[in-house]
Amino acid sequence: MSTEAVATIVRAALGLIGAMVICLIFVWKLGLICLLFMPFALAGHFLGVKLQKNEILNDAEEIQANSLASDAISNYRTVAAYGLDTMIAKEFSELIVGPVNKNLCNAHLIGLSFGYSQLMANVSLIFYLVIGAVLQKDDDTISGFHIFICSFVFIFASQTASNAQSYGPDITKAFLASIKIFTLMFTPTKINAIDEPPQKLLTVDHFQGEIEFKDVWFRYPSRPKQWVLKGFNLKIKANDCIAIVGESGQGKSTLINLLLRFYDVTFGEILIDGADIRSYDVRNLRA
Ligand SMILES: Nc1ncnc2c1ncn2[C@@H]1O[C@H](COP(=O)(O)OP(=O)(O)OP(=O)(O)O)[C@@H](O)[C@H]1O
Ligand SMILES: [Mg+2]
Repeated sequence: MSTEAVATIVRAALGLIGAMVICLIFVWKLGLICLLFMPFALAGHFLGVKLQKNEILNDAEEIQANSLASDAISNYRTVAAYGLDTMIAKEFSELIVGPVNKNLCNAHLIGLSFGYSQLMANVSLIFYLVIGAVLQKDDDTISGFHIFICSFVFIFASQTASNAQSYGPDITKAFLASIKIFTLMFTPTKINAIDEPPQKLLTVDHFQGEIEFKDVWFRYPSRPKQWVLKGFNLKIKANDCIAIVGESGQGKSTLINLLLRFYDVTFGEILIDGADIRSYDVRNLRA
């Protein structure tokens, strides 16, 4: 989008400016009228871009459907083992009915606005020639030659402009996508394992290996309404070998994620050899 599309848009803009200058030199009245007509010709494009923006914004139902799908896919063994495929597919279809209908309606409006832009390209042609003919009738200094120069220069310029318009929706999508990507890239990591100043090091010499979860409350940042751990307590003595058992989705893997500091606890603390794991060097802790 930042190469081909930008080149086309620059070409279109320069074409329009050039057309205006030529028109103003040859038949300034026609040039001014063409200029006044431009907003009507370009209105369809701006409408289309606005509608495209609406289409992309996710609504609550869509987010719910997405999280259902991602849960089902990441736990596909469980889904398959209990034969829940059709049930989940049905639930998913029900959730996306709303968003699909909304987008269908929007798609037709976008189609209409695109059709309008195409129509206006042809209407402009007639408009310029007719206005030219009318002007020529009352003014002997304007020749047919001048009218043709002005009309055609404007028609070619508007064609390039409408070609550039077809990039409009893609540019909007690319623009919104790039905002997401750059936001992600520039979001500071809460737990920085790369250039955090070294903290207390866990070394083999000092390491005992006693782990304690102390009244741990935790919810994933992406799902702030759902508590995964509510006041979880567990003490594992050094050199003990334990098993953590529970239903799927009860938070077993979450305990490991917390221990390795992929996430930090919301409340409470996790201790290794009596010290909060947040006081240790992250890379060292993970190693
Ligand atoms: N990255 C995440 N973002 C948001 N929610 C998550 C994330 N990872 C897990 N969860 C949710 O947290 C809860 C606990 O998940 P977890 O993976 O810890 O369960 P588990 O006990 O390991 O399950 P399983 O036995 O299937 O491995 C689940 O409801 C899950 O949907
Ligand atoms: Mg797990």
